[in-house]
Amino acid sequence: MKGLILSGGKGTRLYPLTYTNAKQLIPVANKPVLVRVIESIRDAGVDEIGIVIGQTGPQIKEVIGDGSKQGVRITYIPQESPDGLAHAVKISRDFLGDERFVMFLVDNVIQGGIGRLISDFAHSDWNSQIVLKEVENPSAYGVAKLRPDGSIEKLIEKPKDPPSNLALVGIYMFDSTIWEAVNSIQPSWRGELEITDAIQWLIDAGHRVYPHVHQGWWIDTGKPTDMLEANSLVLEELSPTIALDAVIENSTVDRRVTVESGARIINSTVRGPTIIGENTVIENAYIGPFTSIYHHVTVRNCEVERSIVLEHSAISDLRDRLQDSLIGRSATIGRSDDKPRVLKMNVGDHSSLWIV
Ligand code: DAU
Repeated sequence: MKGLILSGGKGTRLYPLTYTNAKQLIPVANKPVLVRVIESIRDAGVDEIGIVIGQTGPQIKEVIGDGSKQGVRITYIPQESPDGLAHAVKISRDFLGDERFVMFLVDNVIQGGIGRLISDFAHSDWNSQIVLKEVENPSAYGVAKLRPDGSIEKLIEKPKDPPSNLALVGIYMFDSTIWEAVNSIQPSWRGELEITDAIQWLIDAGHRVYPHVHQGWWIDTGKPTDMLEANSLVLEELSPTIALDAVIENSTVDRRVTVESGARIINSTVRGPTIIGENTVIENAYIGPFTSIYHHVTVRNCEVERSIVLEHSAISDLRDRLQDSLIGRSATIGRSDDKPRVLKMNVGDHSSLWIV
């Protein structure tokens, strides 16, 4: 079996972070979402993986390289413009050949990995397997209507009037019947070749498409609030470790905290689940649960909770606790006692600030 990761697109919903950083490289619990997807496919026993890349391709290649760090072989498949998920499959034909494959949208973070799903599919005679999850807002997704016997009657992309609350999670498995399907469909009203239409084509042609309803959590990390939610859920599953060269002095660090290499925690309290990144310094501070502080960050004389802080940032001397926040790379947040007492800001495009 091979793996295909769709990692094109611009990530406008995650502005401003994605002006300078590919959304696929934003970390959840200090690991970029793309690396999480690669590891999840690898852990299911698939080590040949194609990544469809768009505008952010160069950044992705720089971080992921040939995949040897993750123990996989990566082939990059450039997509000129994001013309749809089925289009991305079409242009991957040379890489995939006639092998069965698993396709994973990079925005997905799913509980429990995909090992079981892949082995079920590998040992079955199904032509395709899709993953469904009950959601509250099905109109935002592809939606499946099942028959009373559990088989799929119909799939519709982003329906105004959803026939069920079962959304298509961005994880799909196919055999070589998909080639005729993607070559037979036409672009949708949004001008894209939809994978949902290709799967409907498989069903209409009498091929076997098996719907697996996922019971654990699933987050589509499109928006900043989704990133914080995914971060909290992944942190809860992390097995905490303290690096041998980390320094913890005069501090209370509970057992659900991961401290990475070279980090220093001084005169502080850190409550897990939380991760403190490489060479980060926490001093005279409180770091609350569900927080991921990436590498080379400084947090001094302040409190941070349920937040993600990216690399090389500095946060200091705040009176109020920073909470539910996403702080980008190399950002500086501080306090000045100069008069007059004013708010001073140097804030990028599409930023959001809430001030009390
Ligand atoms: O998240 C699950 C949903 O993903 C499903 O429920 C929908 O049925 C499916 O169509 C898809 O919907 P989205 O509208 O959320 O897909 P989006 O355009 O955001 O693309 C998902 C990922 O695929 C994104 O990381 C970018 C990548 N992509 C997208 C397109 C359109 C590509 O690599 N190439 C493309 O042409």
